[in-house]
Amino acid sequence: MLTNDQRRDQLTNLSQQAELGGGVERIHKQHEQGKYTARERINKLLDPESFIEFDKFVVHRCNSFGMEKTKFLGDGVITGIGKINGQQVAIFSQDFTCWGGALGMAYAKKICKVMDFALENKIPVIGVNDSGGARIQEGVESLAGYAEIFYRNVQASGVIPQISLIMGPCAGGAVYSPAMTDFIFMVDKTSYMFVTGPEVIKTVTHEEVTKDALGGAHTHNEKSGVAHFRCDDEDDCFERVRELFSFIPGCNKQKHTQKLTTDSVTRSNNKLKNFVPDNSKKPYDMHELILEVIDDQHFLEVHRDFAKNIITGFASIGGIKVGIVANQPAFLAGCLDIDSSVKAARFVRFCDAFNIPIITLVDVPGFLPGTVQEYGGIIRHGAKLLYAYSEATVPLITLITRKAYGGAYDVMASKHIKADINLAYPTAEIAVMGAEGAVNIIFRNDLANKAKNVEEYENNFANPYRAAELGYVDEIIFPEITRQRLYQYLKALENKKIPTPDRKHGNIPL
Ligand code: HXC
Repeated sequence: MLTNDQRRDQLTNLSQQAELGGGVERIHKQHEQGKYTARERINKLLDPESFIEFDKFVVHRCNSFGMEKTKFLGDGVITGIGKINGQQVAIFSQDFTCWGGALGMAYAKKICKVMDFALENKIPVIGVNDSGGARIQEGVESLAGYAEIFYRNVQASGVIPQISLIMGPCAGGAVYSPAMTDFIFMVDKTSYMFVTGPEVIKTVTHEEVTKDALGGAHTHNEKSGVAHFRCDDEDDCFERVRELFSFIPGCNKQKHTQKLTTDSVTRSNNKLKNFVPDNSKKPYDMHELILEVIDDQHFLEVHRDFAKNIITGFASIGGIKVGIVANQPAFLAGCLDIDSSVKAARFVRFCDAFNIPIITLVDVPGFLPGTVQEYGGIIRHGAKLLYAYSEATVPLITLITRKAYGGAYDVMASKHIKADINLAYPTAEIAVMGAEGAVNIIFRNDLANKAKNVEEYENNFANPYRAAELGYVDEIIFPEITRQRLYQYLKALENKKIPTPDRKHGNIPL
């Protein structure tokens, strides 16, 4: 019979053993690759001393391929709860030192347990991913384990924020759970995501590609849009995750806290007085406008490197947390195309799900023309953004700074799809299309007088007054009062509540 002290020692020893994961040698290897261990990551990400671990002594029950001889306490994933900026969160962190972080049934059950806990208690869930995918020795049980996680990702979607950090190779099943979460963070040079790796690709398609080019942080942030944040290293990643948490609530029912700021809401935006160029073909950087109107110039841009013709991100105005969607005239003239439509649609849906008001800044010449776009399905992809805005019930404030042409005018949170407040600068041009294009069509037989016709069209349509006459624009404002007005309207919309249709769910054009 063990004494009390011996039992205490037993717990201490087992705990220490669990904390070593796959052992000292593999921990060294992990460090050599510029990666922290699963446990170090939790401790660096969460508030100090806040982590409480679940299931520290769980082990697998697999007897195939000699697995019964190798058991790591915790089975290669660390799960539990803790805090970020004082906000309760649930977390799992995959331990690459145990079978390359590969997922078996016991491991999957640990993740499912912590996800269930998060959903039942309405707290965000963070997954730190570093895994070779399905644990090959466990066969179909690994696949079953993945599917149970995927199912929970879907049940939690829109109820609690789900955040994925990719901090190593993520192959096969390891990519699909992150893909169903709200935000994916990747780390430069050490994180990869692919469904099938370079070796398989070479065998099947004879294509040769490095794993970085195939699924590195650069690729998924710039090309595929799979990832939302690209971080320099793991420390940078933890910093950015904590920053994100300062803008989002713990669940869809949680009332937002005010963001602390000393930035005056009546501060005049003098910089914006003549910010929009006289020449409507001249680009300008919409980031500058955003930074001028938000609190403390603090803008957390989402999908910064992807589809740069639209800007999405979080900020606050007078302490009220908002999502910002803005056309970017400095890139592809700010037009809408497939990638920008999908990027913005997903962002709008996140904000709507978590009750974050959306400010839309419009300077859009229309949809990008061309066969690449049409064959790629711009019709159904553009429809996603239209759908997302139309179903959104959060406060929607739209400001047209310059162009709002054609279908893109309708899509970008127009009055007609139930934006609450639609503002325009005196420089706004709200029309079916730009003057040149319009004149080439309606005055096709009068090209001799093109200059005169362009001028006449511009006088009639290249302004916000037609729309204002019809009440499609609620107020035309001088740019210098932008911040003050946005704050006043955000306050006025604070208690917005509108009914939604009685239906199981809509059918967004996927
Ligand atoms: C079991 C695995 C494993 C796996 C890696 N290991 N992947 N064990 N199942 N899937 C083990 C290795 O045997 C090794 O064990 C340790 O993890 C580290 O792996 P290394 O290869 O030495 O590391 P590295 O060179 O860094 O390469 C990492 C890697 C590579 C890129 C992840 O291991 C790899 O390609 N693994 C296989 C990836 C894969 O094809 N997964 C299955 C996908 S199918 P020791 O004992 O030496 O430390 C899938 C289906 C799910 O996931 C579908 C759901 C929809």
